[in-house]
Amino acid sequence: MTDAVITVEDARKTYGATRGGGGGGPALAGLDLTVARGTVHAVLGPNGAGKTTLVRVLATLLRPDAGRIEVAGHDVVREAYAVRLRIGLLGQHAALDEELGGRQNLELFGRLHHLGTRRARARAEELLARFGLADTGRKPVRQYSGGMRRRLDLAASLITEPEVLFLDEPTTGLDPRGRAEVWASVRSLVGGGTTVLLTTQYLEEADQLADRISVVDAGRVVADGTADDLKAATGGDRIDVVLRDAGQLGAAVALLPVPKEEITVDTDRRLLSAPVTDRMAALAGVVRALEEAGVEAEDVALRRPTLDEVFLRLTATGDDRAGDDRAGELVGRTRGGRSA
Ligand SMILES: Nc1ncnc2c1ncn2[C@@H]1O[C@H](COP(=O)(O)OP(=O)(O)O)[C@@H](O)[C@H]1O
Ligand SMILES: [Mg+2]
Repeated sequence: MTDAVITVEDARKTYGATRGGGGGGPALAGLDLTVARGTVHAVLGPNGAGKTTLVRVLATLLRPDAGRIEVAGHDVVREAYAVRLRIGLLGQHAALDEELGGRQNLELFGRLHHLGTRRARARAEELLARFGLADTGRKPVRQYSGGMRRRLDLAASLITEPEVLFLDEPTTGLDPRGRAEVWASVRSLVGGGTTVLLTTQYLEEADQLADRISVVDAGRVVADGTADDLKAATGGDRIDVVLRDAGQLGAAVALLPVPKEEITVDTDRRLLSAPVTDRMAALAGVVRALEEAGVEAEDVALRRPTLDEVFLRLTATGDDRAGDDRAGELVGRTRGGRSA
């Protein structure tokens, strides 16, 4: 039914396996992935999860140890050249000429890819317009902001009109403004019919951009679906209670019919949050319990879990290695990005 443009079955890769030396576990430990044509698919995971390894395997830059891996209808090992003709990789042509303008850089790439002068010029113009760079096309690249430069990188990776575009952490290192600019550019790609596989450590980025998300940890997919699927699959709804007096938070926690370790408390916002199973019963029960105990609430609300909470649950369960720390790091970083 679905028109898969990327198929990965049981991909495995261990670095330095042939040397038989030490090192960590496998970078890809039986990873499965299907990406439908014309979609944006996010591979979300913490540092060291195997995201770059996966992208390098898909882009034929790295040979997997095992697995069936096809991109745009061709096997990445046996038909690497055919795959290469059909893909783009952000940063692959990172050799932007600093002294040339964006327009000249793009025309140069076009000619390098045998487009012919006229076609290269037209393609450069089209891409500059698409990524909001038309006005700065003459400016030397060394004067570009981080966001502008990343957008020019994106434009360069699209010169050949790839069927599939790989973006490995496209917004890492950008400030919030640059990140927003790149997000807008990625959204415009989808309209153009390109299939995008992007990797990210930012939950918000996956939530904002992706049709589907594969959460990756330690070289395998630990969850897969739309952002809504992931939220629904992990624990259902939550109840948030904002108190008038932060001094009563402790009393309120004791009143909730939920194990203490599942309740999160934010003292600054006088907020506590807990997972619920039966929405209406929980709402009524909590309101009544607070009233009876004389704990004054300013607001009580039911809501869907955030992707942050989903990720914490996914990596905290059944994974007692470094899952908690890494999830914490990840969530902290996402919050940092959001606040600016
Ligand atoms: N060139 C390499 N040689 C040896 N180990 C590597 C190399 N590249 C990555 N690794 C290891 O493989 C694992 C996955 O890395 P990577 O694919 O870069 O993850 P991510 O991109 O998600 O941060 C990590 O444990 C990392 O240390
Ligand atoms: Mg990486």
